[in-house]
Amino acid sequence: MKITKICCIGAGYVGGPTMAVIAQKCPHIQVTVVDLNEQRIKDWNDPDTNNIPIYEPGLSEIVAEARGRNLFFSTEVEKAIDEAQVIFISVNTPTKTYGKGKGMAADLKYIELCARQIAKVAKQNKIVVEKSTLPVRTAEAIKSILDNTGNGVQFQILSNPEFLAEGTAVTDLLNPDRILIGGDTTPEGEVAINALVDVYANWVSKDKILTTNVWSSELSKLTANAFLAQRISSINAMSELCEKTGADVNEVARAIGMDSRIGPKFLKASVGFGGSCFQKDILNLVYIAKSYGLNEVADYWEQVIIMNDHQKKRFSNKIVQTLYNTVADKKITFLGWAFKKDTNDTRESAAIYVADDLINEQASIAVYDPKVSGNKIQSDLNYLETRSVEENKARVVTFDNAYEACKDAHAIAVLTEWDEFTTYDWQRIYDSMHKPAFLFDGRNILNAKELESIGFIYNGIGS
Ligand code: NAD
Ligand code: UGA
Repeated sequence: MKITKICCIGAGYVGGPTMAVIAQKCPHIQVTVVDLNEQRIKDWNDPDTNNIPIYEPGLSEIVAEARGRNLFFSTEVEKAIDEAQVIFISVNTPTKTYGKGKGMAADLKYIELCARQIAKVAKQNKIVVEKSTLPVRTAEAIKSILDNTGNGVQFQILSNPEFLAEGTAVTDLLNPDRILIGGDTTPEGEVAINALVDVYANWVSKDKILTTNVWSSELSKLTANAFLAQRISSINAMSELCEKTGADVNEVARAIGMDSRIGPKFLKASVGFGGSCFQKDILNLVYIAKSYGLNEVADYWEQVIIMNDHQKKRFSNKIVQTLYNTVADKKITFLGWAFKKDTNDTRESAAIYVADDLINEQASIAVYDPKVSGNKIQSDLNYLETRSVEENKARVVTFDNAYEACKDAHAIAVLTEWDEFTTYDWQRIYDSMHKPAFLFDGRNILNAKELESIGFIYNGIGS
């Protein structure tokens, strides 16, 4: 079976970049990305590809090359489903905010809607690919909806989880560590798996394309995120012990990372991991384990989240304590708001929670982030519903220049590891601040010795 037409439902952080790379690498395949969100599609179609809705290094160039050739963004969901042989589902799967499993389980309402829409529209056999991260055995539910509400056509469900990280999405997609495809072990399932393997084989070597059954594939994605997040919580747990004992967490990470069984990546102590997925996926894993009565398994993974929440709280507490136990009406400047560098995504960013704590202490927050707008920052805070919109507006001011943001501040807190922060004229910043001038480096990216020699009172994580 040769694939020539693909549709992707969901033009978000996964759907957009993933499909752009498929289109670039497979000019013979027509790729249509659809979304209900009209503004998002309008932004993907902006004539200036620098204005596409997702900032990822290298992405606007790929979109410029493929868009209009074999890459299309549209709100015509049904038409795209009807025309495609393969339909990727890349819609959001947030944590449930209501009902059974509230605060833990994945909310599958968007997935179910997609399945129902596909069932309604499809008049020929289709391959449906789960690209979204889903609880293990979701494919069963999708299949049941498709088979029971469809027009009698055959569907093959594949699980093809995405492992890209934001900020490096394009390089991750171009050079993935692996591609994982799960499908049925029936002859029809194997045809579908092979069809998708052939799409990726246009640029990924076959030895990196793993095929397995659907359940293993679904669970592998949750497991990968749990292991990654666990490393961060592990090193963050050690960072607190380092602070008490005079050890330096960066040195500890270096020493253990040289053990080839541990490896050096993902050992950077920080103010806490953010992003839309780690927390949501672990909570989902915990929920699944609990629902099978595996309470020890559930408790084990939940601890990763508990540690992460503790790390964020610890950071804001440290700021308050160090500033003589009061930050009321003191200006505290945040450098960075995004959950990591090289992205404009702020979902679950530690900055939001640290700001919330400090506003509770009546601090005045100034924010500079190279890619996040003031409106986004306000809406992130309003979403918490801790206080009124007006109060957030009064307490948090955004700047588009870091030097202006730091002027007259009592303290600076680095919340995102943007490279540009390491290139600043720190003497100039110090001179413009209240004294003593405090610096809380939530990412350990600045040179502590240099800053201390200027006069800053420097606090990193875990040293
Ligand atoms: P997102 O919120 O950025 O994008 C999802 C899009 O789907 C939205 O634009 C929304 O409007 C659209 N949508 C929802 N229901 C729809 C429907 N019925 N029809 C058409 N459009 C619909 O989410 P995301 O970050 O791209 O994540 C998508 C999935 O991928 C999630 O399951 C996530 O866990 C997983 N994932 C995300 C990342 C990441 O880095 N963000 C990485 C790997 C996996
Ligand atoms: C993560 C995974 O890395 C991807 O493989 C996965 O596809 C994705 O989740 C997903 O399923 O959504 P992402 O959240 O985009 O990707 O970014 P990461 O690089 O993993 O960073 C997550 C958070 O951990 C960030 O806040 C980052 O600053 C923090 N982090 C990362 C640390 O604090 N220390 C580290 O050593 C590494």
